[in-house]
Amino acid sequence: MCGIIGILSNEQVGGRIIDGLSRLEYRGYDSAGVATIDQRAIQRRRSEGKLQALRDILESDPISGTVGIGHTRWATHGLPTHQNAHPHATDRVAVVHNGIIENYQLLKNALINQGLVFQSETDTEVVVHLIDQALKAGKSPENAVRETIEKLEGAFALAIVFKDNPDLLIGTRRGSPLVLGINDDELFLGSDAWALAPWTKKVCYLEEGDTVIMQRGAEFTYEIYDAGNQIVKRPLKELNLAIGAANKGKYSHFMLKEIFEQPQTLSDTLLSLVDEQSKTIQIESPFDLSNKILRIRLISCGTSYYACLMAKYWFEKMAHILCEVDLASEFRYRDPVLNSDDICVFVSQSGETIDTLAALNLVKGMGCQTVAIVNVPESSLARAAHKHILTMAGPEIGVASTKAFTAQLMVLNILALQAAEFRKVMDKEAVLKHFTDLLHVPKQVSQVLQNVSEFDKLGLRLSQARDILFIGRGTNYPVALEGALKLKEISYIHAEAHAAGELKHGPIALIDKLTPLIAIAPNDAWFEKTASNIQEVSARGAPIFVLTDDHSFKVNAHEFQNICLPKSSSVGNCFIYTCAVQCIAYYTALHKGTDVDQPRNLAKSVTVE
Ligand code: AGP
Repeated sequence: MCGIIGILSNEQVGGRIIDGLSRLEYRGYDSAGVATIDQRAIQRRRSEGKLQALRDILESDPISGTVGIGHTRWATHGLPTHQNAHPHATDRVAVVHNGIIENYQLLKNALINQGLVFQSETDTEVVVHLIDQALKAGKSPENAVRETIEKLEGAFALAIVFKDNPDLLIGTRRGSPLVLGINDDELFLGSDAWALAPWTKKVCYLEEGDTVIMQRGAEFTYEIYDAGNQIVKRPLKELNLAIGAANKGKYSHFMLKEIFEQPQTLSDTLLSLVDEQSKTIQIESPFDLSNKILRIRLISCGTSYYACLMAKYWFEKMAHILCEVDLASEFRYRDPVLNSDDICVFVSQSGETIDTLAALNLVKGMGCQTVAIVNVPESSLARAAHKHILTMAGPEIGVASTKAFTAQLMVLNILALQAAEFRKVMDKEAVLKHFTDLLHVPKQVSQVLQNVSEFDKLGLRLSQARDILFIGRGTNYPVALEGALKLKEISYIHAEAHAAGELKHGPIALIDKLTPLIAIAPNDAWFEKTASNIQEVSARGAPIFVLTDDHSFKVNAHEFQNICLPKSSSVGNCFIYTCAVQCIAYYTALHKGTDVDQPRNLAKSVTVE
């Protein structure tokens, strides 16, 4: 979602702001803009579409200045037009914003009644006018910002520059993330630390309600004020980000690179949790296993939600613990009944998903212990939870989550195994066998990736389809759901997934010759049942594609193909078949010619509701 960059320097900042914005492109956006202060004027350039369009404008119409702000906008209020692109500005002040001002209509009406004319349809523009009015009334920039944010409801991160104060940059946040970057002779603001990594190793994650006043005098200085306007010291962090991850290397897309990284990221995640030699779990359980655990709740959104659905099978079958899985956006508004001994686990790649964060805060407020499983160590979710466990997937740039998902599965499976072992549901032998199965997973995933030509061919075939159905049973059902989500996200083909046993209860009505069926059907405990469902679909004329390790499987269909995958254990299959559906989605999108890494309308980090 929207990305923010701010720089206060002795050097020209225009080009570097664009450079910083390019590292936020992965978040998803549909317009971009930049504003600097120079020669007592606000210089502003904006454009619809991708950053290249803004670069082209800047080339023919450059800007100058040593302080500035930039923005990639993911439209919420108003179309992704030039007029609605940030920064929004008056003659005195320019603002970029990530988040949603929920009471903007009320504020806007009041401003319109005072005779103000709005240039855009955005919620952000009220912020600009409120600051402007306060400045006009003689308030200092700091007080103008303070006074304004007191009037705002909703979530925001703001970066603000002032025409009459070219040595000043202000950042403030509530709900949306904002990071301060510090060098001796430069200060930065960014929506994430990743964007600042090439410029500084020293960062400070602003906390909820913080405002940072950054100034250039004989030295560069900053002061952070908390929500109660008290000066506070926030811890400085040393960044240790692998900048190389920002390159696609030999791959045509980040998504493909990230799919191929999975043997490594799965191994890294596994070995961060277990000792390979002794086949024991190394981490302390984030749950108090000695307490009688009655229920685990897993709460998340999107792909992370499917990781939780998979984990439900594991916690219940392996550890005999009742496990409830919730979409964070539903959970937070349905007055959930919680026991104080419920264990609540929040799963998120970004650690910034607003609904997941809000659900966590709700649960914390009700006195429950919270655990976050996240891929970004300094994310809001990691910092807000009582305990957190990191997935070791490394930065994920493609909007469609791949390696972060399988790393989440790995963490969740180990937690289920740990609980099963502690509760003696699995005996020593079963635990050792499970360990061995997990240790084989990275190699088996790399076997899937050794020959992607079948996925490529299938992708070409599927790229002609308008609708596609996925089915699976047991743990293959969340794989089917994830396959359908990946496919629609990046190829824009309508895809849905159903538990195979549910077909007869409705979805079978969708079957026709033009609707391919993709069945996730390893030869496991559910195979015979799924095979019958495949027969039922083929009898109704659908083209059938079966992902299976049973090479002899056959149905009588006018179009039929087995996609043969390596034989594995039940847990191994979850990873192998996930990798296969990721590849199918990738090659389908490739043949359709869509923007694989930054699909339309999607954002990597969903920081607004
Ligand atoms: C996955 O491909 C998605 N783009 C999306 O569903 C994502 O998983 C969801 O928004 C949750 O994000 P999170 O894991 O960062 O919380």
